[in-house]
Amino acid sequence: MTRLMTNEPVTWTVEDSISTYNIDRWGLGYFSINDAGNVSISPLRDKGATIDILDVLREARERGLQFPLVVRFQDLLRDRVEWLNKSFNDAIAENKYGGSYYGVFPIKVNQLREVVEEITLAGEPFHYGLEAGSKAELFSALVTHRDPESLIICNGYKDQSFIRVANIGRKLGKKIILIAEKLEEIRSILDISREAGVDPWIGVRVRLAAKSTGIWATSGGESAKFGLSTLDLMEAAEYLRENNAMDVLRMLHFHIGSQIPDIQSIKKATREAARYYAKLKKIGFDKLEFIDIGGGLGVDYDGSRTLFHSSTNYSLDEYVGDCIFNIKDVCDEEGVPHPHIVSESGRAIVAHHSVLIVQSFGTIEKTKAEYDLSVREHDHKWIKQLAEVKEYIRTNARVALHDAQQIKGESQNAFDLGLLDLRTKAKIETFYWAIVEEIADYYSNRLATGDEEEDATPEEILELGPHLADQYLCNFSVFQSLLDHWALGQIFPIMPIHRLNECPSMQGTLCDITCDSDGKVNRFADIKDVRKTLPLHPLNNGDPYFIGVFMTGAYQDVMGDLHNLFGRVNEAHVFLDSDEDSGFYIEETISGNTISQVLELTQYYPNNLMRSMKEQINEAIKNDRIKPNEGMRMLAEYEKGLSDHTYLTLTTSADRL
Ligand SMILES: Cc1ncc(COP(=O)(O)O)c(C=O)c1O
Repeated sequence: MTRLMTNEPVTWTVEDSISTYNIDRWGLGYFSINDAGNVSISPLRDKGATIDILDVLREARERGLQFPLVVRFQDLLRDRVEWLNKSFNDAIAENKYGGSYYGVFPIKVNQLREVVEEITLAGEPFHYGLEAGSKAELFSALVTHRDPESLIICNGYKDQSFIRVANIGRKLGKKIILIAEKLEEIRSILDISREAGVDPWIGVRVRLAAKSTGIWATSGGESAKFGLSTLDLMEAAEYLRENNAMDVLRMLHFHIGSQIPDIQSIKKATREAARYYAKLKKIGFDKLEFIDIGGGLGVDYDGSRTLFHSSTNYSLDEYVGDCIFNIKDVCDEEGVPHPHIVSESGRAIVAHHSVLIVQSFGTIEKTKAEYDLSVREHDHKWIKQLAEVKEYIRTNARVALHDAQQIKGESQNAFDLGLLDLRTKAKIETFYWAIVEEIADYYSNRLATGDEEEDATPEEILELGPHLADQYLCNFSVFQSLLDHWALGQIFPIMPIHRLNECPSMQGTLCDITCDSDGKVNRFADIKDVRKTLPLHPLNNGDPYFIGVFMTGAYQDVMGDLHNLFGRVNEAHVFLDSDEDSGFYIEETISGNTISQVLELTQYYPNNLMRSMKEQINEAIKNDRIKPNEGMRMLAEYEKGLSDHTYLTLTTSADRL
């Protein structure tokens, strides 16, 4: 059991939790902590009601949903759509910009129907459209999209059927722009559309020299996977001129990567793209009237407002102001009209709206609450030496650590050679961890002397923290619910959602229930760099302990995989409603995958499974290994279990919420 390695205040208040988890910085006014010590959510920020997350969980439990649970706040989506559109419209008016803003939501960031429909509805007054990056996404976009003034932008490589489906939309009067990722696509779009009697709208994606930084930076730069180089662009322009089709070119598009941390990358990219737009306009592409600045508007996951990959050093207003200023400035220099601006912000629209709630059901402790440190006459010399080391921790902690590490190392070698019995090894380890814990406590509680060298905590001591942390076992799969944490090291804000008026006196990391040692979360949001452990509360016997992973609405919902056959998790969709005492209602619950559903995805069909199990049970009955009644009970249990969820059914006590 590892206690918090900071000076603990005698009393702990909600304000202490607010600053420990920095919720006011990354929460953007959507998330905070109420007087009861629970996380509270204001989906419309200061324009609407605030609800207690535990009330939502209670309601979800009553509706039969188990954990892990994704809670979506639908009003929050609406707030984000309005926030983005208003910001562009205000800046356009303020800067006397000549074009308009036509944003689109990139479906790839969250394809779930309820999410896309909510966004489309909220975006109607702004002619907010959709972006599709694949054929399947276009099939859904054609149906969700209803406003003829808003755009559908088609990105990604395109085959003939992709183009034909887009042409269905054009014939229905939709403003669909097919973005050519390479030269040949312009030829196919032109041929197929002419054959179908459709007047196509084409955009070209340019491969800018400007690049982003961070973990999604490879989408930009001259070696990017998508887009036309300047030479390709010249060839495309020539081809369109020769084919009498200069009017089909409507849009210049770029995308330099998601989650752009540095505003300088945005400034450079918009200027460069505006220059391409102006030059094309000047060589006769009169119908070119849109610049699409792609996605990349970042989200401050850790609240640090820095260049760190999980943060951004700019606000929405700065982003919008810079895009408009730079495009306007370049166009004015070149003497061409200001284009309409399109952006494809996905993460910034959906990240905040969903929260993953996981239940912790136990801990793996490196150290013990109480150690047996008695030394006996016949104990091994290393145990006696460790007892001596313990004595000089207060006078020379660093030397004590080095000596303890040496003894532990030597004892491990002796054990490997078969020279140490289990009891002695266990006692050496007990002593070692007791010493390490005391050293860590000593450094964290020491008063500053004012001498920089003396006050600095030695590196090897700092490294002890993560080793001492307890591992909190949590009922979820990192591979299903937090894939970008595993794959890219993305940081999400994570914190307990209740007991926040109690001191989180432990340091922990999170382990999921997959059998993979990568199935863990051991990097946490912090204003400076990342934390390797998270302050958590001790588990009280039998009481449920819930941890929230916030801002999971972008990408994580659909990218998760079925590692260990842990399937999709349960979902609750929450709407604010002032007629309800609680201030909200759960409009929809979506049940996660059952065991038979995930098995079907791997070609195990329930009928075949049942038949095969029955054969084996019959065989066992025939061979007198089990009685017929018992066999039938086993078969019934197997059948019932197939409709269970894939995660652990924790009987402990979520009812005690
Ligand atoms: C072409 C394109 N547009 C838009 C986006 C969405 O980006 P973001 O979620 O950063 O806004 C992406 C995602 O990387 C993309 O590839």
